[in-house]
Amino acid sequence: MLRQDEIHMFEDSFVAKARENGMAATCCASYEDYEALLGRDPAEQKLFNDSLRVNYSEFFRNSLTFSTLEHIILPTLIRKAREENRRELRIWSAGCALGQEPYSVAILIEELGKIAVPPIDYRIFATDLSMVDIAAAHAGCYSAESLGNISGKRLDRWFSHKNSVYTISPELTSHIEFSAFDLLDAQLSSPPSSIFGGFDLILCCNLLFYYKPEYRKSILDKLILSLGREAYLVCGETERGYIIENGFREVYLQSAIFKPTNV
Ligand SMILES: C[S@@+](CC[C@H](N)C(=O)[O-])C[C@H]1O[C@@H](n2cnc3c(N)ncnc32)[C@H](O)[C@@H]1O
Repeated sequence: MLRQDEIHMFEDSFVAKARENGMAATCCASYEDYEALLGRDPAEQKLFNDSLRVNYSEFFRNSLTFSTLEHIILPTLIRKAREENRRELRIWSAGCALGQEPYSVAILIEELGKIAVPPIDYRIFATDLSMVDIAAAHAGCYSAESLGNISGKRLDRWFSHKNSVYTISPELTSHIEFSAFDLLDAQLSSPPSSIFGGFDLILCCNLLFYYKPEYRKSILDKLILSLGREAYLVCGETERGYIIENGFREVYLQSAIFKPTNV
């Protein structure tokens, strides 16, 4: 359950919208009535808190971003790693929700890896605040309705299915380390399982916009520390402005893919 001081980290407009939804669902005509209900009803308090923890995601969520990753960024990273005689690419999906984002990246690398000689290995560190979501992401089971962005060819290649449940191929899961990690944890700069940062690519999509500017900044400051040389940061399409304000330049217009401005 969220503590009161955690709620204060969220953008006021986001909390107000959740409160309005809660008021409508409980037929509370005033803000004061709803606050009183939250105070006396733990079940309603839990529903309200849960509504502030949005874990919606999609495979290949922003098509322009994923197309740029597939055709430009990942081939560039693979080529550079090979030139530097590095054995693997290191990727961090921060705020991975139910795993759609890290699995999408893994599918692209597997498909590009086939044409790369010699093949390059990769490890994706997939983290989220929610341990429940991390467990579900690791299990990698999805309903047919949630797979709308995936081509039939990819569905056949990267999923097995029984009735309407699709399970991600263990070939992909074996490259991904799932762990719980709070991006606002002041003690840790990157997931302990990664040992050190030095990521080639960090995806931190569709979570910054829930937070007030000072918390967005502290998340971005942390991510900068974990970016390797010539690495890229990916955000959600509506978050591009925050990234630019915080010292990054977008590498291709509207792609939501960035580098720090000093690189
Ligand atoms: C809307 S989902 C986005 C999922 C995915 N990145 C995407 O773009 O589709 C936001 C996720 O960020 C996670 N999250 C929010 N605050 C976080 C924090 N401080 N540290 C780690 N994860 C966080 C939430 O638990 C949720 O699963």
